[in-house]
Amino acid sequence: MLIRPIRDGDTNAVIELWRQCELLRPWNDPVADIRLARNTQSAEIFVGICENDIIAAAIMCGHDGHRGWLYYLAVSPERHRQGLGKMIVAHAEQWLRAQDVPKLELMIRSTNTGVAKFYESIGYKTEPVITMSRWLHQPADLQND
Ligand SMILES: CC(C)(COP(=O)(O)OP(=O)(O)OC[C@H]1O[C@@H](n2cnc3c(N)ncnc32)[C@H](O)[C@@H]1OP(=O)(O)O)[C@@H](O)C(=O)NCCC(=O)NCCS
Repeated sequence: MLIRPIRDGDTNAVIELWRQCELLRPWNDPVADIRLARNTQSAEIFVGICENDIIAAAIMCGHDGHRGWLYYLAVSPERHRQGLGKMIVAHAEQWLRAQDVPKLELMIRSTNTGVAKFYESIGYKTEPVITMSRWLHQPADLQND
């Protein structure tokens, strides 16, 4: 698998991969998410290209000046358990390591806890923290929530 930064023509394929991997949520606009990451110097989206130029894996990563973060990790369902997830996470880690980021964090939805086995196998551990959030630009369909 060849890993490179996302390009203009990749957006639809990446969003389709995220859809196949059930990573899309109604309150997240994936086009806006890709645009913001691409417009941010400390963030990047990497794609993994397999034969026939198919995007088989993707990951969004970045840092906030303190910790590195991983988002939207996806491997095409028909290519699971071939080492592609491990490979693209290692690439994101290397990109962040080169920027002196000391530690990475990621969040797993409570409906997707099975994926913790994958992260544990590549060296991640569960932390005793509660994640809290607040919208700064609330999507229109959540205005009354
Ligand atoms: C999580 C995901 C990216 C893993 O990708 P992958 O390419 O299948 O993972 P790898 O082949 O690199 O797996 C490396 C190791 O992780 C472990 N692992 C991977 N998937 C696992 C699973 N479903 N259950 C238990 N262990 C798993 C295994 O130890 C595996 O090594 P092995 O195959 O030699 O036993 C993939 O399952 C995926 O796209 N899931 C849907 C999207 C998602 O949940 N993303 C994460 C959001 S937080």
